[in-house]
Amino acid sequence: MIETSDAVSDLLESLTVEEKVGLVHGAIDPEGTATGYVPGVERLGVPELRLADGPLGVRAGDEPATSFPAGLALSSTFDPDLARRQGETMGREAKALDQDVVLGPGLNIVRVPNCGRNFEYFSEDPVLNGACAAGVVEGLQSEDVVATPKHYVANNQETRRGSVSVEASERALRELYLPGFRAAVEAGAGAVMSSYNRVGGTHMSEHPWLLQEVLKGEFGFDGFVMSDWFGTEEAVDVATGGLDLEMPGISMAEMMEMGLPSDEEGHEGDAGAGGETDEEFEMDEEIEEGMPDAASGTLFRDELADAVASGAVPEERLDDMVARILGQMERVGLLDGTRGDGAIDAEVDGDIATRIAARGAVLLKNEGVLPLSEDADVALIGPNVGEALLGGGGSSELEPLEEVSPVEGVTDRAAGAVTVEAGHPRVEDPDFFGALSGESVEYDEDEEADIDAAVAAAREADVAVVVVRDRATEAADRDSLELPGQQDALVAAVAQAAPTVAVLNTSGPVELPWRDAVDAVLEQWYPGQAHGDALAAVLYGDSDPAGRLPVTFASEDEYPASDPRQFPGDDEVHYDEGVFVGYRHFDREGIDPTYPFGHGHSYAEFAYGDAEAVDASTVSVTVENTADRDGREVVQAYVRPPAVEGVERPDREFAGAESVAIPAGESRTVEIDLDDLAFQRWDDGWTVDAGEYVVEVGRSSRDARAEVTVER
Ligand code: BGC
Repeated sequence: MIETSDAVSDLLESLTVEEKVGLVHGAIDPEGTATGYVPGVERLGVPELRLADGPLGVRAGDEPATSFPAGLALSSTFDPDLARRQGETMGREAKALDQDVVLGPGLNIVRVPNCGRNFEYFSEDPVLNGACAAGVVEGLQSEDVVATPKHYVANNQETRRGSVSVEASERALRELYLPGFRAAVEAGAGAVMSSYNRVGGTHMSEHPWLLQEVLKGEFGFDGFVMSDWFGTEEAVDVATGGLDLEMPGISMAEMMEMGLPSDEEGHEGDAGAGGETDEEFEMDEEIEEGMPDAASGTLFRDELADAVASGAVPEERLDDMVARILGQMERVGLLDGTRGDGAIDAEVDGDIATRIAARGAVLLKNEGVLPLSEDADVALIGPNVGEALLGGGGSSELEPLEEVSPVEGVTDRAAGAVTVEAGHPRVEDPDFFGALSGESVEYDEDEEADIDAAVAAAREADVAVVVVRDRATEAADRDSLELPGQQDALVAAVAQAAPTVAVLNTSGPVELPWRDAVDAVLEQWYPGQAHGDALAAVLYGDSDPAGRLPVTFASEDEYPASDPRQFPGDDEVHYDEGVFVGYRHFDREGIDPTYPFGHGHSYAEFAYGDAEAVDASTVSVTVENTADRDGREVVQAYVRPPAVEGVERPDREFAGAESVAIPAGESRTVEIDLDDLAFQRWDDGWTVDAGEYVVEVGRSSRDARAEVTVER
């Protein structure tokens, strides 16, 4: 039982068991805007609690809110301050939309590039992941909105997400998959969402070790753990295993009866909000098998009171659940009604979304074609250039406040002529409900691509900008890292006709078979509502490309989990690669990836001075912008551990970074705090081997510019 304030203790004494049970499961939101809803107890003045999806903006039914770029775009900025700004903005908007809890940030480690939800997540690296998650959490909580880091833990694939058991070593869990959640808890998260999958055979909504011992015990989490939607299996195990709030509190069948949410534009509304459709919905059999059973999501509603009466669940456990929920309601000023008002300021909030989208764009390659000269005649080519790419499919979809397409953004900014040519049939968004019903996320459009028209437009222009995209959604993994349809052929053909910039709007790494033929490659991820403005800002150099890769780009078969036992697995998925995920794997295997972790060009040039150790946890380096234009550098630090007999460790681990604006010709001395995680290893407990650690300081995991040794 957690410690409680006087106000919460008084409430616990006054609440009946029935009322307590009513506070620990969801119900239908009478207002129809919340993703999840917990009715209050009017008799005692306990207000209702409204939970809205995230993590890429506040999804309050059909109410518009700022649509932020993908998590990967935010992490590409390597700037926790921007994460905090995003969190604050979402917090303010949530309050304005009458929501109390935001279901985000999403912070599962990008273990496999195919994972359908990578666009919601941050990185393959636990330190970067934790820094971004903590930033968003701090921002949300500073606005008195409860943050919900999700999905705890090891929900690294969508294939059979409801049933698959992750078989991972404790070392891998401790070093890679758990630290982001610890950082989010330390940053003050009031809630945590358990994941659909199992770990070591036990479902995550009833995992005494990971929920009670690790999260609540070791990490000191005193907020509430809520289940993912329908992600519960057995009432007593869930209650005694550490879950505090079961969602959504109605069954899948009841929700389906209320009508499948969807509108003409293809933005699914929130199922909990009772949208309507006439479509017959049939769940794919294999997916259904992997789904929780009929009672899932309603166990606390239907069985908890009896379980408490029979003693199978101690009443103290129920009190603890209620105390955790009330404690967070008190903390954000909901219990005593002192929470401040929110506000949506389309301009201010939109600017933050634009800034993140621009700063998060990663210039993978540039042979001098960028930045574009203002007067250049541009052929803007791509199947979907007429629309903003808000995000992937699933629960993170929301109604944006505005949408700026690449055509609008580039046309507004260009002084030269802009010719627009699709060159390819529109790449359809994969939809979440389609994925649930087993529809392939593969592209099956058989309409012919009009590549000739695109090539002709490119020939007439000074430069061609070709915008291509992948398709990703919650509930399915990408079958392949190839761009869907004939987009590769489109880029390759255009590259023969004009100097070409390829712009990627993807959910993660993709194959780039034409990369030698194009002059520049810009990875813009899913940019959200500010798509076109952010694109134009980077193309024309109004914003220096300051994004760096938070994930390694390589060919699909070079990734660590290429063996089917490792991904997608079957009933079990084996994390045989241990801690060698992402760049740790490519370093160990001596593989040169297409683009390494941390990589990204600026339009400026930077010269690094010598690195110095300020103390055992801080290094400093002076970086000079030697170009004649202002720029922004992301100065990165990686730690190389001393060799220890019999212990296999990654060659280097990312330890921290600073994103710093440096005017033309000027220098900045940058201090980087080195995260302890980069020094520690898990060996039945955290160990720091005594010895010399080499700290590499530089431009990416494969581009060290200076070195200094620290002792531990
Ligand atoms: C997702 C969660 C989401 C929830 C509510 C689930 O399908 O996994 O991330 O918050 O739905 O929409």
